[in-house]
Amino acid sequence: MREEKLMMRALGGETLPVPPVWMMRQAGRYLPEYRETRAKAGDFLSLCYNPELAAEVTLQPIRRYGFDAAIVFADILLLPQALGAELWFETGEGPRLSQIRTKADLARLKPADAIHEHLAPVYETVRILAEELPRETTFMGFAGAPWTVATYMIAGRGTPDQGPAHALMQQDPTCFDALIDLLTAATTEYLLAQIKAGAEVVKLFDSWAGSLKGAAFDKYAIAPTRRIVAGLKAVYPDVPVIAFPREAGTRFQGFAKATGADCVALDTAVDAQWAAKAVQVDGCVQGNLDPRLLVSGGDDLVREARRVADAFAGGPYIFNLGHGITPDADPANVDLMLRAVRG
Ligand code: CP3
Repeated sequence: MREEKLMMRALGGETLPVPPVWMMRQAGRYLPEYRETRAKAGDFLSLCYNPELAAEVTLQPIRRYGFDAAIVFADILLLPQALGAELWFETGEGPRLSQIRTKADLARLKPADAIHEHLAPVYETVRILAEELPRETTFMGFAGAPWTVATYMIAGRGTPDQGPAHALMQQDPTCFDALIDLLTAATTEYLLAQIKAGAEVVKLFDSWAGSLKGAAFDKYAIAPTRRIVAGLKAVYPDVPVIAFPREAGTRFQGFAKATGADCVALDTAVDAQWAAKAVQVDGCVQGNLDPRLLVSGGDDLVREARRVADAFAGGPYIFNLGHGITPDADPANVDLMLRAVRG
């Protein structure tokens, strides 16, 4: 049977006349209907753990824009919470977690296979969406990559330079490596369960990969991703994996081959012409429109969306942003972007 879903065709290596389109953080605060549902849930985490409402916010951008892919509404920090870390969101500031600083802190976490009871609501959201999404929409699960999740667990919050994680890597490499190993195993478990519940594609967000240099990039960005991809492919060889090593720079080149990922998502910093030659030769790529253009809109948005789409038109490509859409984006600009790409 011929694959009908554009996104699955691109991930399978097909060059398409019009690329599939979706947006990072497409369910979010720029949409009035999201803000309304979030208020109904009470707060962000209550929304993540309410399968009916989480499915509803996942569907909202699909109804409004007809994107080619939906991503389950959840957060990369639910996994550390499932491992026993405390997690809360400070209004206007971002996530806070209980910190991992010593082997004793690490020893208090649960084993990788103990996450499923806590994450059962996410699997239920996946099951609802697998039923309710339009048949042409590809359905994605996701997780944070071990390094990025570790940076939040060690610092207890987001940090500009991931300083505390780099410090632990230097000062107590045994403890640091044990945390990465635990996260690698737990992430594999988590994504396998999302696929079992109905996810057709999974994406790994390594938002802070760019602060790993040289051998550390190989050890903590590439190796854990490779192990997770291998663990998924051993059970589900046909489920595509998208890797997003944000701000990897020249290390985007060869990343798909080194990890076994089917597609590499590109950030806003990477030059599209370069990436078409250096990265897309190995398979499908996704990205790299600057999300700020969805705030400013106008001719700049149209021109840039076309420039990015044209740069990658010679190979398998998924149109997307280089990072998440921001709360101050204008929903009308998303329509403008879609018209520019789809014609
Ligand atoms: O639509 C989607 O993309 C699916 C849902 C999704 C969210 N977070 C929802 C969310 C996804 C895929 C993520 C991934 C995520 N979460 C990442 C990796 C991608 C990236 O942005 O680099 C990271 C680092 C996180 C951790 C996180 N979650 C932070 C740092 C914050 C606070 C910053 C912010 O934007 O407010 C969040 C909160 C968060 N996750 C929101 C959403 C919609 C906003 C929460 C709200 O509604 O108040």
